[in-house]
Amino acid sequence: MGGLELNKAVAAILVAGITFMVAGLVGEILVHPHQLEKSVLKIEGGSEAPAAAAAPDEPIAVRLAAADAARGASAFKSAGCVACHTVDQGGKNGVGPNLYGSVGAALGHADGFAYSGALKGKGGNWSFDQLDAWLKKPAAFAAGTKMTFAGLGDGKKRADVIMYLRSLAASPVALP
Ligand code: HEC
Repeated sequence: MGGLELNKAVAAILVAGITFMVAGLVGEILVHPHQLEKSVLKIEGGSEAPAAAAAPDEPIAVRLAAADAARGASAFKSAGCVACHTVDQGGKNGVGPNLYGSVGAALGHADGFAYSGALKGKGGNWSFDQLDAWLKKPAAFAAGTKMTFAGLGDGKKRADVIMYLRSLAASPVALP
């Protein structure tokens, strides 16, 4: 093969290579690869809730059996209840009512506190179940309540706090 022939051969290979690349690019531009938005195949029976979903709380009686008033007392502080409530017998009402002897007493039990109609109007006495619902989400238990507190989401902590509230009495109400 002469020098010229060699050049031609190399040029041919280069052209072929470039053509191949350009064809690839053009192809990609013309045919947009498109991901399916949803799987077309739907597999039945695979719709269980994810394992991470929060388990519902156990009944309050079960949680109270494992609850602790001392833990509840510190949760009462760390959750910010102390900002609005006193707990000693005869203690002053603040932003919220004094809470001594509230468990088992009437909703809106403290003398001289201006309760909302939303809470006082419900009537009845504080049961453990009601306190549990109240402290979980006050605004859901009594829509329009004056207690501007979002709620204690942790069911165990709520039971501790209720155990503590129960201890604030000369003779605490019997456990459920
Ligand atoms: C921002 C102030 C504020 C905070 C924080 C707060 N409360 Fe209250 N609480 C109130 C007010 C105000 C009321 C009266 C609600 C009404 O009249 O609607 C109330 C009512 C109550 C009652 C009903 C008392 C009764 O006499 O019937 C209980 C029990 C109670 N709070 C417990 C708690 C606990 C436990 C916490 C903490 C987890 C807490 N509160 C946090 C302001 C507060």
